Amino acid sequence: MAAKVKVGILISGRGSNMKALIDAAAKKDYPAEISLVISNRPKAKGLAYAAKAAIPQYVIDHKDFERREDFESALSDALKHAKVDFVCLAGFMRILSPDFVREWRGRLLNIHPSLLPAFKGLNVHERMIDAGVKLAGCTVHFVSSEMDSGPIVGQAAVPVHPGDTPEILAERILEQEHKLYPASLKLIIENKARISGAVVLFDDDIKAAGALSNPPA
Ligand code: GRF
Repeated sequence: MAAKVKVGILISGRGSNMKALIDAAAKKDYPAEISLVISNRPKAKGLAYAAKAAIPQYVIDHKDFERREDFESALSDALKHAKVDFVCLAGFMRILSPDFVREWRGRLLNIHPSLLPAFKGLNVHERMIDAGVKLAGCTVHFVSSEMDSGPIVGQAAVPVHPGDTPEILAERILEQEHKLYPASLKLIIENKARISGAVVLFDDDIKAAGALSNPPA
């Protein structure tokens, strides 16, 4: 097998998507290895799992920097030092400047808990329930300088049920996030999904079967 592609993960908190990526990458036939995890918060829970998995982990605390660009230079330096090819944002709660995004363009991915371009931003689960949507989901996308925007790599949909709380819905979506992120990253690394202008195109043989309908139709 060809050498594994090096990936860095940026987190701010729980790190369950980071864990899904680390666990996927631990498999022999997965095309990526996780070279480092960086948290901007010293107390991020995800750091403990990264340590357990023997992944080099660093805290680069944004509060230690007066200027955003210095914080981002520190991030970029650490990522470049580890020679990463791709960067995955996984619950990373800092907005990245256009300069950082430009530097990593086409190599910077994010996961968001909605079917983008609907429901960008924060408090997504509550807003989806309030809007009465019947299907929710998650999106993996390349990062562009606008928040929660950029070429969409993959999406997974789940139903919204009567009585769902934001927590219950978040849990249902998260289960899909943990599958979608490793699967999307794999497609990109294997060059089966490629950016073409504002969108991502798949190879012809990548086609989802069936449909998710709520109510069932
Ligand atoms: C996930 O819902 C992700 O989609 C969003 O932030 C949350 C992070 O959760 N960007 P975790 O830290 O990966 O558990």
